Amino acid sequence: MKLCVALDLASRKENLDLLETLKDNEIWVKVGLRSFIRDGKEFLHSIKAINPSFKIFLDLKLYDIPNTMGDSIDEIVKLGVDMVTLHASSGREGMCEVMEHLKAIENPPLVMAVTALTSFDEKSFFEVYHNDISSQVLEFAKMAFSVGVNGIVCSCLESLQIKKAFGQDFLTLTPAIRPFGEGSGDQKRVANLQDAKEAMSDFIVVGRPIYKAENPRAIVRKILESMELPC
Ligand code: C5P
Repeated sequence: MKLCVALDLASRKENLDLLETLKDNEIWVKVGLRSFIRDGKEFLHSIKAINPSFKIFLDLKLYDIPNTMGDSIDEIVKLGVDMVTLHASSGREGMCEVMEHLKAIENPPLVMAVTALTSFDEKSFFEVYHNDISSQVLEFAKMAFSVGVNGIVCSCLESLQIKKAFGQDFLTLTPAIRPFGEGSGDQKRVANLQDAKEAMSDFIVVGRPIYKAENPRAIVRKILESMELPC
């Protein structure tokens, strides 16, 4: 299991100061909409300047027509990131287009399909998708798997069933982790570290419990140590 630290702070400087305190750790760094819209690709260079071995997860959640998805992944490849997201609900054709564009690339980024956002509860999910979360995540995963996407973004509540259905190599990335039972904020389907381990999550994403902590460095160390312990 790998830890992705979400850089969702209010300024470039705050994000980089946070990373500076975490630079001795083996972590993935998640750059989402807030940071990327504000700070652009230069920000990715600044992350690597702090520690070149940080892996970068660019969480832009692509959702568009297939042609635009394909063109966008070509541009993303030039950024040299290690993992990207698209929405499974953008459909088979769009996901397929992205995977086709990556075929000729030597070290392509991992592509993860977002299924049900962890901020959805059953009621708000049904309003949009007219299905229950667990069944729809399975449907999305089937589609993503069939076109060669590397894995899905889901909650820990769905991760284990996905592993059972599609095998170990089909990755799960689980946000809304509250490692030691911290407050959930806007997230509805949260899980702690133990849940994430039992759910066989490959990547956990942690934002606020780290960057809002009094001592983010200590929390990260504690998370990494706990991740090493058996279930
Ligand atoms: O602060 P918190 O730990 O809730 O942050 C979760 C991060 O994971 C945010 O950056 C959010 O955009 C992202 N994310 C999510 N749910 C998804 C996909 C990504 O919360 N399904």
